[in-house]
Amino acid sequence: MNGIKIRGAGRSVPSNVVSNRDLERKIDTSDEWITSRTGIRNRHHCSGQETFSAITAAAAREALAAAGVRPEEIGACIVATVTADTLVPSAACVLQRALGLPEDIPCFDLNAACTGFLFALHTMECLLNASPRKFGLVVGAENLSRCINWEDRGTCILFGDGAGAAVVECREGWPSISAVMGCHGNDELLRLPGAEMEEHSYITMEGTRVFKFAVEAVPWCVGQVLERTGRKVEDVDFFVFHQANARIIDLVVRKYHIPPEKYYKNIAEYGNTSAASIPLVLGELWEQGKVGPGSRILTVGFGGGLTWGGAMIEFV
Ligand code: UT7
Repeated sequence: MNGIKIRGAGRSVPSNVVSNRDLERKIDTSDEWITSRTGIRNRHHCSGQETFSAITAAAAREALAAAGVRPEEIGACIVATVTADTLVPSAACVLQRALGLPEDIPCFDLNAACTGFLFALHTMECLLNASPRKFGLVVGAENLSRCINWEDRGTCILFGDGAGAAVVECREGWPSISAVMGCHGNDELLRLPGAEMEEHSYITMEGTRVFKFAVEAVPWCVGQVLERTGRKVEDVDFFVFHQANARIIDLVVRKYHIPPEKYYKNIAEYGNTSAASIPLVLGELWEQGKVGPGSRILTVGFGGGLTWGGAMIEFV
């Protein structure tokens, strides 16, 4: 199978910032508790014109521009999300219309919670191998602020909104992203009921148990991807982890002796943005010139489902 590489990345977050101090005025919490337990200081919440669809389209346009790829060259579009504006049409079909993507291509949403972007990258690699077009659009986007239970201080402080996008290219002879993925069907630890399925469609999470799952899953994924690709930590230019809790990232970084210049945390500014979190980091790294042509990234996601995944992806 031919592999994919990232040709351009983009991101968009709503301008409405909700700080820990704002939350102190609303619920029984403190800036000290939130920062020390999670590393989060701010999160951005959609409001007014800055809807899920608007930030998704903005991130995708930025990625297309960064890649120098025209909408008509796109061979497939996947939006990883659990919070699209509508279930039908899918966010990907809404995006198809907004961008003017071709009609003879698959556009669909993918739900793997916080691991969605990784599952989508792997799916895109498979799709582009069977497509006459060689570029794909992979987006991770969330509007989690609409599923927050403000009476649950253990979860309401965590989540933010945002969108990140990557234009990927598939070429003969390129290595596969060597994705490792897994799921452990669990309907208790992390839940977001479907529309009208329960009285309120809020996120619920048993945080401490999910934390324990994460600190096992993330190092395992790193090890698996290194083994599959025959690479060492020194061969990787950047490690990009799902931003759920700064302490989870610190633990894996310590375990693998990853130097500070090789990983990145933006959880302080955006909180946990689920499927958007990995592409938001990629977009920022791209913007700041920290990654570019030739960079090799090891990325790991984990979350509801429970789901986990890792991959090695290069920039072209
Ligand atoms: O993205 C998908 C994957 N998600 C994750 O990986 C999240 C993993 N879990 C976590 O990040 C952490 O478990 C949390 C940040 C969610 C919670 O941290 P924790 O250290 O596990 O705290 P806890 O839930 O055990 O709560 C400890 C204490 C409790 O008080 P008592 O019972 O010890 O008196 C809570 O009531 O902290 C209290 N607490 C709060 N206090 C102030 C819970 N939330 C808050 C709050 N402000 N917002």
